[in-house]
Amino acid sequence: MKSIVLLVVGLFVGAFAAVAGMSALNQGTPYNDAVMTVLGQQMGAFKAMSEGGKCDMADVSRRLALMGAVAGEVDAAFLPVGDDARFSQLSRDLNNAVSKAGAAVSEQVATASASCETLGQVMPDIGATCKGCHDVFR
Ligand code: HEC
Repeated sequence: MKSIVLLVVGLFVGAFAAVAGMSALNQGTPYNDAVMTVLGQQMGAFKAMSEGGKCDMADVSRRLALMGAVAGEVDAAFLPVGDDARFSQLSRDLNNAVSKAGAAVSEQVATASASCETLGQVMPDIGATCKGCHDVFR
Protein backbone atom coordinates (compact mmCIF):
# COMPACT_ATOMS: atom_id res chain seq x y z
CA MET A 1 0.00 0.00 0.00
CA LYS A 2 2.73 2.41 1.05
CA SER A 3 4.69 1.80 -2.13
CA ILE A 4 1.60 2.44 -4.28
CA VAL A 5 1.06 5.78 -2.53
CA LEU A 6 4.70 6.66 -3.11
CA LEU A 7 4.43 5.64 -6.75
CA VAL A 8 1.37 7.85 -7.29
CA VAL A 9 3.04 10.78 -5.52
CA GLY A 10 6.15 10.22 -7.64
CA LEU A 11 4.12 10.25 -10.85
CA PHE A 12 2.41 13.49 -9.86
CA VAL A 13 5.69 15.17 -8.98
CA GLY A 14 7.23 13.96 -12.24
CA ALA A 15 4.33 15.21 -14.34
CA PHE A 16 4.37 18.55 -12.55
CA ALA A 17 8.13 18.96 -13.10
CA ALA A 18 7.77 18.09 -16.80
CA VAL A 19 5.07 20.73 -17.29
CA ALA A 20 7.10 23.34 -15.41
CA GLY A 21 10.17 22.50 -17.48
CA MET A 22 8.29 22.73 -20.74
CA SER A 23 6.78 26.11 -19.95
CA ALA A 24 10.24 27.39 -18.95
CA LEU A 25 11.53 26.32 -22.37
CA ASN A 26 8.59 27.94 -24.14
CA GLN A 27 9.34 31.31 -22.60
CA GLY A 28 12.44 31.68 -24.77
CA THR A 29 15.17 34.24 -24.19
CA PRO A 30 14.12 37.17 -21.98
CA TYR A 31 14.01 40.28 -24.17
CA ASN A 32 16.26 42.34 -21.90
CA ASP A 33 18.98 39.69 -22.05
CA ALA A 34 18.58 39.48 -25.84
CA VAL A 35 19.01 43.25 -26.21
CA MET A 36 22.10 43.30 -23.99
CA THR A 37 23.59 40.29 -25.74
CA VAL A 38 23.34 42.05 -29.12
CA LEU A 39 25.00 45.18 -27.71
CA GLY A 40 27.73 43.13 -26.05
CA GLN A 41 28.43 41.23 -29.25
CA GLN A 42 29.08 44.44 -31.20
CA MET A 43 31.38 45.84 -28.52
CA GLY A 44 33.26 42.54 -28.58
CA ALA A 45 33.62 42.79 -32.35
CA PHE A 46 34.97 46.36 -32.06
CA LYS A 47 37.46 45.27 -29.44
CA ALA A 48 38.66 42.38 -31.60
CA MET A 49 39.01 44.67 -34.65
CA SER A 50 40.97 47.33 -32.86
CA GLU A 51 43.19 44.81 -31.08
CA GLY A 52 43.84 43.07 -34.37
CA GLY A 53 44.62 46.42 -36.01
CA LYS A 54 42.12 45.70 -38.81
CA CYS A 55 39.18 48.07 -38.73
CA ASP A 56 36.72 47.68 -41.56
CA MET A 57 34.85 50.94 -41.16
CA ALA A 58 31.93 49.89 -43.36
CA ASP A 59 31.43 46.98 -40.99
CA VAL A 60 31.84 49.27 -37.98
CA SER A 61 29.21 51.53 -39.47
CA ARG A 62 26.81 48.63 -39.99
CA ARG A 63 27.33 47.47 -36.40
CA LEU A 64 26.75 50.96 -35.05
CA ALA A 65 23.48 51.17 -36.97
CA LEU A 66 22.47 47.84 -35.42
CA MET A 67 23.44 49.10 -31.97
CA GLY A 68 21.45 52.28 -32.52
CA ALA A 69 18.34 50.28 -33.39
CA VAL A 70 18.77 47.95 -30.43
CA ALA A 71 19.64 50.77 -28.02
CA GLY A 72 16.25 52.24 -28.88
CA GLU A 73 14.71 49.11 -27.35
CA VAL A 74 16.53 49.25 -23.99
CA ASP A 75 13.75 51.11 -22.19
CA ALA A 76 11.05 48.88 -23.65
CA ALA A 77 13.02 45.77 -22.66
CA PHE A 78 13.67 46.78 -19.05
CA LEU A 79 11.11 49.23 -17.73
CA PRO A 80 9.73 49.37 -15.11
CA VAL A 81 12.82 49.05 -12.91
CA GLY A 82 11.92 51.34 -10.02
CA ASP A 83 13.82 54.50 -10.75
CA ASP A 84 12.59 54.66 -14.34
CA ALA A 85 13.58 58.30 -14.91
CA ARG A 86 17.18 57.55 -14.00
CA PHE A 87 17.21 54.44 -16.16
CA SER A 88 15.79 56.28 -19.15
CA GLN A 89 18.39 59.02 -18.78
CA LEU A 90 21.16 56.42 -18.84
CA SER A 91 19.66 54.69 -21.85
CA ARG A 92 19.42 58.07 -23.60
CA ASP A 93 23.15 58.54 -22.89
CA LEU A 94 23.76 55.24 -24.66
CA ASN A 95 21.59 56.24 -27.64
CA ASN A 96 23.35 59.59 -27.92
CA ALA A 97 26.83 58.05 -27.74
CA VAL A 98 25.95 55.47 -30.40
CA SER A 99 24.46 58.01 -32.80
CA LYS A 100 27.40 60.36 -32.27
CA ALA A 101 29.78 57.49 -33.03
CA GLY A 102 27.71 56.56 -36.09
CA ALA A 103 27.94 60.10 -37.43
CA ALA A 104 31.70 60.28 -36.85
CA VAL A 105 32.31 56.92 -38.48
CA SER A 106 30.09 57.43 -41.53
CA GLU A 107 31.75 60.78 -42.17
CA GLN A 108 35.08 58.95 -42.25
CA VAL A 109 33.73 56.10 -44.35
CA ALA A 110 32.69 58.71 -46.93
CA THR A 111 36.14 60.27 -47.06
CA ALA A 112 37.86 56.86 -46.75
CA SER A 113 40.06 58.37 -44.07
CA ALA A 114 38.92 56.09 -41.28
CA SER A 115 41.27 53.97 -39.29
CA CYS A 116 41.43 51.98 -36.07
CA GLU A 117 42.18 55.31 -34.44
CA THR A 118 38.59 56.44 -35.03
CA LEU A 119 37.26 53.25 -33.53
CA GLY A 120 39.61 53.72 -30.60
CA GLN A 121 38.10 57.15 -30.07
CA VAL A 122 34.41 56.24 -30.23
CA MET A 123 34.57 52.93 -28.34
CA PRO A 124 35.38 54.40 -24.91
CA ASP A 125 32.54 56.92 -25.23
CA ILE A 126 30.03 54.16 -25.85
CA GLY A 127 31.61 51.88 -23.26
CA ALA A 128 31.32 54.62 -20.63
CA THR A 129 27.54 54.72 -21.12
CA CYS A 130 27.32 50.92 -20.74
CA LYS A 131 29.25 51.14 -17.51
CA GLY A 132 27.26 54.16 -16.36
CA CYS A 133 24.07 52.13 -16.37
CA HIS A 134 25.55 48.81 -15.22
CA ASP A 135 27.06 50.48 -12.15
CA VAL A 136 23.58 51.54 -11.05
CA PHE A 137 21.14 48.97 -12.39
CA ARG A 138 22.93 45.72 -13.06
C1 HEC B 1 20.24 52.00 -19.35
C2 HEC B 1 20.89 50.86 -18.79
C3 HEC B 1 21.87 50.02 -19.54
C4 HEC B 1 22.74 50.41 -20.54
C5 HEC B 1 22.93 51.78 -21.15
C6 HEC B 1 23.47 49.22 -20.91
N1 HEC B 1 23.08 48.15 -20.17
FE1 HEC B 1 23.78 46.24 -20.32
N2 HEC B 1 22.61 45.67 -18.78
C7 HEC B 1 21.74 46.49 -18.08
C8 HEC B 1 21.13 45.73 -17.01
C9 HEC B 1 20.08 46.28 -16.02
C10 HEC B 1 21.65 44.43 -17.08
C11 HEC B 1 21.32 43.23 -16.20
C12 HEC B 1 20.19 42.48 -16.89
C13 HEC B 1 19.93 41.13 -16.38
O1 HEC B 1 20.74 40.56 -15.67
O2 HEC B 1 18.86 40.59 -16.76
C14 HEC B 1 22.58 44.43 -18.20
C15 HEC B 1 23.27 43.31 -18.63
C16 HEC B 1 24.16 43.28 -19.68
C17 HEC B 1 24.82 42.09 -20.18
C18 HEC B 1 24.63 40.69 -19.63
C19 HEC B 1 23.40 40.11 -20.29
C20 HEC B 1 22.98 38.77 -19.76
O3 HEC B 1 22.36 38.00 -20.51
O4 HEC B 1 23.23 38.50 -18.58
C21 HEC B 1 25.61 42.47 -21.22
C22 HEC B 1 26.49 41.59 -22.09
C23 HEC B 1 25.44 43.90 -21.38
N3 HEC B 1 24.54 44.36 -20.44
C24 HEC B 1 26.09 44.65 -22.35
C25 HEC B 1 25.92 46.03 -22.49
C26 HEC B 1 26.68 46.84 -23.42
C27 HEC B 1 27.80 46.34 -24.31
C28 HEC B 1 26.21 48.11 -23.29
C29 HEC B 1 26.65 49.34 -24.02
C30 HEC B 1 26.87 49.29 -25.43
C31 HEC B 1 25.15 48.09 -22.29
N4 HEC B 1 25.01 46.82 -21.83
C32 HEC B 1 24.44 49.20 -21.90
C33 HEC B 1 21.48 47.82 -18.34
C34 HEC B 1 22.12 48.59 -19.29
